[in-house]
Amino acid sequence: MKITEFKQRKKSKKKISMITCYDYTFARIIDSSNIDTILIGDSGTMVMHGNPSTVHATVDEITLMIKGVATGIQSEKLIIGDMPFLSYRRGIKYAMRTVNKFIKAGANAVKLEGVTGNKKVIKHIIGSGVPVIGHIGLTPQSINSLGNYCIQGKGKEDAAKLLGEANQIAEMGCIALVLECIPSDLAKEITETIDIPTIGIGAGRFTDGQVLVLQDMLGMYKDISPKFVRQYLKGFELMSNALNNFHNDVQSLDFPNKQESF
Ligand code: KIV
Repeated sequence: MKITEFKQRKKSKKKISMITCYDYTFARIIDSSNIDTILIGDSGTMVMHGNPSTVHATVDEITLMIKGVATGIQSEKLIIGDMPFLSYRRGIKYAMRTVNKFIKAGANAVKLEGVTGNKKVIKHIIGSGVPVIGHIGLTPQSINSLGNYCIQGKGKEDAAKLLGEANQIAEMGCIALVLECIPSDLAKEITETIDIPTIGIGAGRFTDGQVLVLQDMLGMYKDISPKFVRQYLKGFELMSNALNNFHNDVQSLDFPNKQESF
């Protein structure tokens, strides 16, 4: 999916599929699929490195992930780099250094969380020829002030605030907007109000597209599965079984056999 297709998709009502990815191996698999667009999310610091929240993500960490993913993508899939915690709050110069690293590593666009205090930097990035994707609702980089990962925009006032922010993001020229963990009625209202595509995660079925964390939808965790995730594979079980099969074959001297030996 090309950058120019974003607005067309909204008009044609053909939904956008977005998936997170953090490495070359999975990028090769995604490249062979029909998925439209790839997000190197700051969630990568949790998924790949076991950190407890996204505030631990660093610019170098995400840059390395973008490089791996971009190397694995040969088809026309938009690659989006997620700007880590504080990387766009330390002034335009610092933000642009991050954007430069991401683009050089192979990203085609960047995403950042929130609107308040970010307008100048968003406009500057867009003005520099780099597409920006907004992200409102639950913004995990603000976990320390939010207190927990709960649904946002439930009350009238909060809903109106989010609608206002969505309008600002569209007016600034962002190419799309991620809506995370908000009521589906509010996501519907936002989607019908703004002229750029909305991509939902835990935001119901009325958004213009959906995004999921790859490892969540592949069922790679035994115990964690948020309500809004659909598991398309029992990844944990399948891989754990494969490892045990290998272990057993080693024990029983079944592996390696004649064909697998020199
Ligand atoms: O980092 C991430 O995975 C994200 C998605 C939840 C949209 O920002």
